[in-house]
Amino acid sequence: MKKVRLIEVGLRDGLQNEKINLSVEHRLELINQLVGAGVENFEIGAFVSPKWVPQMACTEDLVIQYNKKYKSVKKLQPSVLVPNEIGLEKAISHQLGEIAIFASCSESFSQKNINCSISESFERFEKIVKLAQKNNQQYKIKVRGYLSVCFGCPYDGLIDEKKVVQLAKKLIDIGCYEVSIGDTIGIAHVGQVESLFKKLMKVIPVKKLAGHFHDTRGQALANILAAYKLGIRTFDSSIGGLGGCPYARGATGNVATEDVVYMFHGMGIQTQLNLAQLIKTNAWLSQAMGKELPSKVARVENLK
Ligand code: HMG
Ligand code: MG
Repeated sequence: MKKVRLIEVGLRDGLQNEKINLSVEHRLELINQLVGAGVENFEIGAFVSPKWVPQMACTEDLVIQYNKKYKSVKKLQPSVLVPNEIGLEKAISHQLGEIAIFASCSESFSQKNINCSISESFERFEKIVKLAQKNNQQYKIKVRGYLSVCFGCPYDGLIDEKKVVQLAKKLIDIGCYEVSIGDTIGIAHVGQVESLFKKLMKVIPVKKLAGHFHDTRGQALANILAAYKLGIRTFDSSIGGLGGCPYARGATGNVATEDVVYMFHGMGIQTQLNLAQLIKTNAWLSQAMGKELPSKVARVENLK
C-alpha cells in the first residue's frame, strides 16, 4: 500500500502568525476535531519566548489540558517547538515525547528568528539534544529538526544548496531523527525541489527527510509531488492553510492539509486522514477565527 505521513502543524505554524489569538478551549476543540479526522502526529504549539511570539504564549496551558484528556492515548504524538533549554525543560516537565528544534540556512533569518548566528544556534541545539537524550532514562524524547529558508531567504536571497545539505546533515548528526526542509517563504519551484532533494538524498537517508512547503506562490502541491516522486514520504501541512512565520514578512501559510490529502487520495496514496472530517474542521475553524481559510478544496466543499 502506498502511503505518506503528514505532520499537522496548524496549531503551531498556523496559529503563530494569526492576528486572532484562538483561546485554549478553541485550540483543544481543534485538537479534538483533528484527532477525529485521523491526525496522530501534530505540533501542539511552541515553548518560545512569549515576547517574540505572543500567539504561542498559551502553549503550556494547552498542553496541560491536552494531557488531561489524551495523555493515555499512545498513538497520538504531539510535538512542541523548542529554541533553547527553557523550552526543553518545559517539554520535559509536561512529559512531551517529541520536540522540534529549528535552524536556519541564512545568517539574517537566524538572527531575526532566534536572535543568534547559525553556529551559536547549533551550539544551543547540540546541548538540547544531549539533554533530551539524557532524559531517556525517565522517558524517551524524540527530536525533530527544521531547517528554514532552504530555497530562498527574505533577507539574504538565494541560498547555496551546498550550505543546505551541510546544515541538514548536521541536524541529523547531532541526533535529530528527521529533518524537515523548509520553504519558509513559499518561493521554491519544482526545479529547485528536485535539484536540492537529489543532493540531500546523497548524504541523508530518504526516510529521514521531510518537506515543509509554504504556499505563498501557489507552488506547494507541485513541490510536494516533486519531492514525493523522488521518494520523500513525510510532509508538514496546516489545517485550512493557516499561518506563516512572523519573521518572514509576506509569507503565507503552510500548504493546507485538506489540499494535500485531496491530492494524495486522488493518486491512491493513503494518508490515514479523513477528508470529509477535515473539511468539517475547516468550517468550524473558519467560524471560530471569523474568516475564510485559504484551503481551496475546503472552500469549494463548504459552498455545497
Ligand atoms: P532572546 O531575546 O535572545 O532570549 O530570544 P533571552 O534568553 O534574552 O530571553 C528573552 C526573554 O524571553 C526572557 O524573559 C526569557 O526568560 C524569555 P525576560 O527575562 O525578558 O522576562 N524566554 C523564554 N520564555 C519562554 N520560553 C522560552 C524562552 N526563552 C527565553 N523558551 C529566543 C531568543 C530564541 C528565546 C527568541 O528569539 C524566540 O523565542 N524565538 C522564537 C521565534 C519563533 O518562534 N519563530 C517562529 C517559529 S520558526 C518557523 O516558523 C519556521 C518553521 O515553520 C520552518 C519553516 O517554515 O521554515 C519551523
Ligand atoms: Mg513554517
